[in-house]
Formats: sequence, C-alpha cells, structure tokens
Amino acid sequence: MKFPVRTYLEKGKTYYFCTCGNSADGVLCDGSHKGTDYEPKEFIATRQAEMHLCLCKKSTCTPYCDGAHAKREQLDLDFLLD
Ligand code: FES
Repeated sequence: MKFPVRTYLEKGKTYYFCTCGNSADGVLCDGSHKGTDYEPKEFIATRQAEMHLCLCKKSTCTPYCDGAHAKREQLDLDFLLD
C-alpha cells in the first residue's frame, strides 16, 4: 500500500504535484516525467500547513489524500467476506 506523504506547504506558493510516480519523493514533480506522457498538476497551497499528499495516485482530490489507498485495500479484502 502506498501511504500519503506528509508535506509542509506554504500558503499561496505554487507547487507541482507528480502524476507519474517517478519523482524522488513520489508527490512533488522533480522533472522525472520527461519522456513520458505525464505532466505535473499545478496547485497553489491554500493553507500554511503540513498536508498529506497522495502517493497512490487514486485520490479524487489530488494532490491531497482522500483515503483512497485504504479504500483499495478494503475492496481487495471484500471477496473474503462472501
Ligand atoms: S516527476 Fe512525475 S510528473 Fe513530473
């Protein structure tokens, strides 16, 4: 399971969320997507805070984690309950 990464964000600062998964930290673009079809997602931090950024790339509100990594794990186990 790919857990979210706690990242300190500065309010009003522009960041680039990694969508390819190849960046060194997995959440902020470092240019490693070059040569792929992926492009980073630009976002501006609305709060000065440590936030959980999505690493599994399944969140519906990227760059922020919405718990999708845990939901996937839950779904994977559902067949055991049948
Ligand atoms: S390194 Fe992943 S989108 Fe840039």
